Amino acid sequence: MFRINENYLQLNESYLFSTIAKRVEKFSASHPRADVIRLGIGDVTLPLPPAVIRAMHNAVDEMAVKETFRGYGPEQGYGFLREKITEIDFRQKGIDISPDEIFIGDGSKSDTGNIGDILGENNIVAITDPVYPVYLDSNIMRLGRSPKIVLLSCGEENGFLPEMPSQRPDVVYLCYPNNPTGTVMSREQLKQWVDYALENRSLILFDAAYEAFIRNKEVPRSIYEIERAKECAIEFRSFSKNAGFTGLRCSYTVVPKSLVARSAGESQVSLNSLWNRRQSTKFNGTPYIVQRAAEAVYSPEGQQEVRDMVSYYMRNAEMIRKGLTEKGWTLFGGENSPYIWLKCPDRTDSWIFFDRLLEECHIVGTPGVGFGSKGEGYFRLTAFNSHEKTAEAVERIKGWV
Ligand code: MLT
Repeated sequence: MFRINENYLQLNESYLFSTIAKRVEKFSASHPRADVIRLGIGDVTLPLPPAVIRAMHNAVDEMAVKETFRGYGPEQGYGFLREKITEIDFRQKGIDISPDEIFIGDGSKSDTGNIGDILGENNIVAITDPVYPVYLDSNIMRLGRSPKIVLLSCGEENGFLPEMPSQRPDVVYLCYPNNPTGTVMSREQLKQWVDYALENRSLILFDAAYEAFIRNKEVPRSIYEIERAKECAIEFRSFSKNAGFTGLRCSYTVVPKSLVARSAGESQVSLNSLWNRRQSTKFNGTPYIVQRAAEAVYSPEGQQEVRDMVSYYMRNAEMIRKGLTEKGWTLFGGENSPYIWLKCPDRTDSWIFFDRLLEECHIVGTPGVGFGSKGEGYFRLTAFNSHEKTAEAVERIKGWV
């Protein structure tokens, strides 16, 4: 009899956002007239920027002509996109990253979920709690619910930031601006982590999917703004939230060449080569049309359109912050992030709060406990709906008893 990967049996029955989708579907089926407003999953609602659409039309036309048709592309991504990323996201900001340190992917969910393929099974892996559920779930898939997975509590008392671990981890996941709490890490705080990782020879997996939402100029947008981070960190970036690619799918992962580890035989191994080996075996590259779309994000028009989109969503975040603060609720995030993290009034359990908000206000959010046990008693709202629906949701909540 064949065997399954038993670690899967240790996961929650379904992925957080699938559970929510099922609950909402059930509610809508039994309340067909309810106008449900979705502030749950961080899915964008504005259409793709015009520069992106034009680039895709051109790329589709190229695919129709023998001379410009493209089949398999490089698994690491096309040079035209890797070069634009290097230039605009890093070099213009004084960070020295080269195109062959950039790997184009189909979303940070895949990249953060797959990175474990190149890491050893004996590593102690530290994951903040609460956080984006993919890090924990993908590690449980690999290691089972093991003492090798250590949770770093991020409570209100610490501003939802992790304390330095008492037990030395080999690998640490950090996500800033944070999903779900919307908090950011200052340059000094991030530097402490980089110094810690260098001193302890740990690896930081830094998820910067929400960097475009940072308003405060003092807050670092990339871990590589910190000196010597290229020796200890991999960074994940996404086009999903800043440029509206949640349905199109494009991301990139930076694996600096100066990032080396020791194999059991004590020889030095480059993580860049390992990730390259992993990607060229298991991934055939993001579609050409999508990479041309992502390239257009870096054109002058694309940059302006993306800035406008981010500002649009941040106005929603402000609207939610203002309305719910007036109601007397305690809120966090939403200033440098599209997520607002609220304390459930009257210490309500976060799934009970989810049900009440859905049944009584017809609003979907995300229960904090879905992001980890330390999220119990909190709740996440996103700023990714339209102005009209967000304003309506705020009014419903304000009038709610
Ligand atoms: C979220 O709502 O946390 C995100 O949309 C999830 C994701 O980006 O996969």
